[in-house]
Amino acid sequence: MSLSISKVLTMSPSDETVSVSGWVRTRRSSKNVSFVALNDGSTIRNLQLVIDIDKGYEGMNEETIAKITTGASLIASGKLVASQGSGQAVELLCEKISVEGVADPEEYPLQPKKHSLEFLREIGHLRFRTNVFGAILRVRHAMTFAIHKFFNDRGFFNIHSPIITGSDCEGAGEMFRVTTLPEKDPPQLDDGKIDYSKDFFGKATNLTVSGQLEAELAAMALGKVYTFGPTFRAENSNTSRHLAEFWMIEPEVAFADLKDNMDLAEEFLKYLIGYALENCVDDMEFLSKRYAEEEKLKPQAEREEMTLLEKLEFVRNNGFERITYTQAIDILMNCTPNKKKKFQYPVDRWGIDLQSEHERYLVEKHFKKPVIVTDYPRENKAFYMRVNPDGKTVAAMDILVPGVGEIIGGSQREERFEILKERAAEFKIPEESIWWYLDIRKYGSVVHSGFGLGFERLLMFITGMGNVRDVSPFPRTPKSAEF
Ligand code: 4AD
Ligand code: MG
Repeated sequence: MSLSISKVLTMSPSDETVSVSGWVRTRRSSKNVSFVALNDGSTIRNLQLVIDIDKGYEGMNEETIAKITTGASLIASGKLVASQGSGQAVELLCEKISVEGVADPEEYPLQPKKHSLEFLREIGHLRFRTNVFGAILRVRHAMTFAIHKFFNDRGFFNIHSPIITGSDCEGAGEMFRVTTLPEKDPPQLDDGKIDYSKDFFGKATNLTVSGQLEAELAAMALGKVYTFGPTFRAENSNTSRHLAEFWMIEPEVAFADLKDNMDLAEEFLKYLIGYALENCVDDMEFLSKRYAEEEKLKPQAEREEMTLLEKLEFVRNNGFERITYTQAIDILMNCTPNKKKKFQYPVDRWGIDLQSEHERYLVEKHFKKPVIVTDYPRENKAFYMRVNPDGKTVAAMDILVPGVGEIIGGSQREERFEILKERAAEFKIPEESIWWYLDIRKYGSVVHSGFGLGFERLLMFITGMGNVRDVSPFPRTPKSAEF
């Protein structure tokens, strides 16, 4: 079997035969010598293959060379020698080469030049083979691993919450229905509504918007748990930060209040940043360079002062600002863009929903660092959040970061049975859909808290990518589920 290129690049020149396999990024040929940049996905770095047809190795001739074009796949073996060129310590002097699959240069859409991200989205089946997408997917993998490690090291248990549910955790009604009823003439009730009692599960079901409600049940027995799974939202928002299918990490901790929750979330984000910086060095350096090039295209006033790596180091090494919603409104009401009517949604009173432009002002212009906003008006947040002693606000927390806006949403949960029941009624949530959730407040109820980190938002933040469609291998957005 072949060695991975990431491994080969750490080896020294020797007389042993080494075999590698991968896809051709570029080939340069002079008279009889060709140089091939080979990538196998194990690292962003390419291995340089040197093919000298004058050496007379079997099967190494002009015909073979002609097949080695960008995108072709091959298996090569030979000896590692010290590289003449700069940029790599070793290169492979080929003694044997087998072109496994050709890629017609007239047709292959990925040329060795910079393609726009928009174009790459149109060739989602091939964009895996670009430097930028390879880097993102390797970082995505590393973050998945780091998330499990973070929680495992701290005594949390991973809970697999269901993907099909009969409840709407966030109460926003943005759900994809799951049904096996016939499209044509489904069974109906007398009032003309669909009779879901005849459906597969004997009731109306949907894809989950969050694993939180189920995580809470588990936390009431296992103490510290987390979910990490796909969640689905049928909100028709075609923005650069919304996906219809995204992954969410939701820890839930018994005997933890809002302060504990904020501390955990801050420690978690800093850990993940540190993990990426320390374990994805080549990819992060590449992404930081890419980010700097993108920034150069922006008007001076909008440019980020720090590089991506500096920004991440800064966030990792500084405390997050913690303010209440009320303080946030004060800042926003009195800020210059609001007074100059620069916001699309003017901030004119306590009680408004914070829009993404407001969140970004707080983070990018006012505090210039991540901000945790707490204690939102009770009407603006989900039914499960704990009502504060003032009766007007709930123990919510949103974490906002530069470039992305809201990355985490969480809260202390309402653990008091009667109040939770009233809140569910306020939000017109049918009791029969969450009776079990209410029930745990009757038996050994305790103060508890949790939050949800949007995985793709995290990746936008870590990789510096501006569009959530470019950090997901198969993005689902309104009118788009091609690949
Ligand atoms: O703020 P949200 O809606 O909170 C919840 O779902 C809670 N049940 C979490 C909890 O307390 N356990 O979503 C949490 C996070 C957001 O902060 C955001 O990062 C991400 O999920 N998110 C999305 N990411 C991509 N596309 C979307 N449509 C998203 N909606 C939310
Ligand atoms: Mg939220």
